Amino acid sequence: MSIAVDDLTRFDEQSAEEVLAWALDTYHPRLAISAAFLVEDMVVIDLAHKIDPGVRVFTLDTGRLPQETYQLIDDVRSKYNIDIEVQFPDASQTQALVRKHGMNLFYKDQALRLLCCQVRKVFPLEKALSGLDAWVTGLRRDQNVTRTNVPKVGVDHAHGDIIKINPIADWSKDRVLAYIKDNKVPYNALYDQGYTSIGCAPCTRPIQPGEEDRAGRWWWEDAATKECGLHHQSPSERFQEELAWLKDETR
Ligand code: ADX
Ligand code: SF4
Repeated sequence: MSIAVDDLTRFDEQSAEEVLAWALDTYHPRLAISAAFLVEDMVVIDLAHKIDPGVRVFTLDTGRLPQETYQLIDDVRSKYNIDIEVQFPDASQTQALVRKHGMNLFYKDQALRLLCCQVRKVFPLEKALSGLDAWVTGLRRDQNVTRTNVPKVGVDHAHGDIIKINPIADWSKDRVLAYIKDNKVPYNALYDQGYTSIGCAPCTRPIQPGEEDRAGRWWWEDAATKECGLHHQSPSERFQEELAWLKDETR
C-alpha cells in the first residue's frame, strides 16, 4: 500500500481517533502498535481497540523490564482479550554483549548503553517491523527536545519506508492522564511510586520534584542524547566500532 508523501501533513489536523481509524482501515493486519506500556501506549491501545478489537500489539521485551511492566502486559492481555506479540533479543548477541562488557555495561559509558539498547531493542524492533506496512507509537512532541517535530503520520526511512503513525503526538501529558482516569485504562503501578517514564529497570528511576518527566530515564546522561535508537539515532564512532565488533562476533 503506497501513500503520497505530500498527503501526510493533513493528518496533523486530525484527531487521534481519526488517524487511527484511517490507519486501521488502510493497513490492518499489516499494522501493529509498538507498546512499552507507558501511559501513552495505553491510551493508543484503548483508542485503537475501541475502533478495531482485532488491533495488533507488539512489545520489545529487553529482558530487563520491571516486574510491574510484565504485570501490566498480562493485565492488558486479559482486559482487552488480545495477544501481545513479544519480541526478544537475539540470544547470541546478548551473550556476546555481556561476555565482553558485563551485565551492567550501560553505566560504563554512552556508547555501551546504546549498544545494549541496540541489541535489546533496536534489532528486535527491526524484526517486529519486518512483516509490517505501518506501525503505531505513543510518541508525544513535548516528551523530549528530540521529539518536538514528530508528525502524526510519516514515512519511516530508517525502517524500509514503512508508515509510522504517532496519533497522540500533539497530546499533553495532562490529557493522557485524564484519558487514563476517565476511561479506567490500566497503567503501570510504578507511576504511583514517582515514576513518570518507564523503560528498563536498571535505566529508570523515579523523578524528584521539579525534574522533567524523562529525567528518570538514563539519568546519568544529557537530555539531548536520551534516546535508545528506536526513534532517533546519532551514533558515535565508538558505538559504531563496538557494533561492528558485535556483528563480527555473532556472524
Ligand atoms: S525510548 O526511545 O526512550 O525508549 P520511550 O520509552 O519514550 O522511548 O517510548 C516511546 C515510544 O516508543 C513508546 O510509546 C512505544 O511506542 C515505543 N517503545 C519504546 N519502548 C518500547 C518497547 N520496549 N516495546 C515496544 N515499543 C516501545
Ligand atoms: Fe539496556 Fe538500559 Fe537500553 Fe534497556 S534501557 S536496553 S537495559 S541500556
